[in-house]
Amino acid sequence: MTVPLLDIRDLKRYFPVRSGLLHRITGLLRAVDGVSLEVDAGEVIGIVGESGCGKTTLGKTIQGIYRPTDGEVFLEGKPLSRLPAKELRRLRLSLQYVHQDPLASFDPWWPMARSLDEPLRAHTELPWSARMERVASIVRAVGLDMEHLERFPHELSGGQLRRLTLARVLVLNPRVIVLDEPTASLDVSVQARILKLLSKLRSEFNLTYVFISHDLRIVRIMCDRVAVMYLGKVVETGPTEVVLQDPRHPYTRALLAAIPHMTPGGPQDQNLVEGEPPSPLFLPQGCRFSSRCPLFQEGLCNASEPALSPVGPGHEAACFRSAELSRAEEAKAGIGAFGLERAEKREGRKMRIGESNAS
Ligand SMILES: Nc1ncnc2c1ncn2[C@@H]1O[C@H](COP(=O)(O)OP(=O)(O)OP(=O)(O)O)[C@@H](O)[C@H]1O
Ligand code: SF4
Ligand SMILES: [Mg+2]
Repeated sequence: MTVPLLDIRDLKRYFPVRSGLLHRITGLLRAVDGVSLEVDAGEVIGIVGESGCGKTTLGKTIQGIYRPTDGEVFLEGKPLSRLPAKELRRLRLSLQYVHQDPLASFDPWWPMARSLDEPLRAHTELPWSARMERVASIVRAVGLDMEHLERFPHELSGGQLRRLTLARVLVLNPRVIVLDEPTASLDVSVQARILKLLSKLRSEFNLTYVFISHDLRIVRIMCDRVAVMYLGKVVETGPTEVVLQDPRHPYTRALLAAIPHMTPGGPQDQNLVEGEPPSPLFLPQGCRFSSRCPLFQEGLCNASEPALSPVGPGHEAACFRSAELSRAEEAKAGIGAFGLERAEKREGRKMRIGESNAS
């Protein structure tokens, strides 16, 4: 049996919430609440979900910037929390994180040459000339030249900064990179160039990506598999095209519905979910999507929390009613589950799918 390059098991990261004069802990914010993922060498796995669902916290906990509250990250089969410090330092170099905010990677008072040299100086014993050679070759690989190394962060465009954030981790020769919204706040043409660069670097350096994004269109282009997160948990995962063509969790459908030309079921899937997600401090009882779900069923969805369960080859969803969302079932019934739900709402009826008219 081959061991996945990156194996994340039941990873949790809670933040204590303090209040009062004594600054006592009065609650726990469950930013990441039991995420398990396996990533093979060379794969790109997408992590998607609304703002605040825990994508960045997951990325930082995988890399070790945040200590996990519970769970384990295995890299090359080795549990990171249980390694001796020296081996951990060596292995951590193979697993890098690229910040959501590119400016967070650089000291505003340092020219880029110093910022790119700094990780090499800290983690290797290479002499200055060898370090500079490495920096120069990586800067060329990300499509920039030596002139950019003389500049300070505020003297670079958004696209150039993104390239240099990649260069800063690539100098360490990683195997896995967690990319946190690598094209955020770039215009569409620069986004396209960065995505192309990421694909080129992936094959040139044999990289594996954990690709965090809130944009399913980008995930579709870049990712072999996708994990959809809601309030700190993965609610659906599978091969990207399978999940996008046959989404089996209402939340995935809602994300797709926000992008009209990606809605697999056509116009009836529009505007399914309204409002903001609840605070991760006060999770709803049972299914954590229940407060927004158009398919919520009293007594079922609020009784317990659905676990991820297989709904197809390599495809899992955490929803008690995922079978009703199958495209094949919908076609048999002649109407999409969401279409029926919306028709009921329009007609002012309270009945939900699965309940009888007699009640
Ligand atoms: N250092 C921290 N201390 C306390 N709470 C935090 C901390 N970092 C994140 N959180 C909380 O954890 C939850 C998840 O935040 P996170 O930044 O991981 O979300 P995200 O999915 O990356 O959002 P976005 O798409 O806006 O970047 C949020 O409720 C956030 O307020
Ligand atoms: S379990 Fe119920 S509330 Fe949760 S997503 Fe499925 S139908 Fe909606
Ligand atoms: Mg984030």
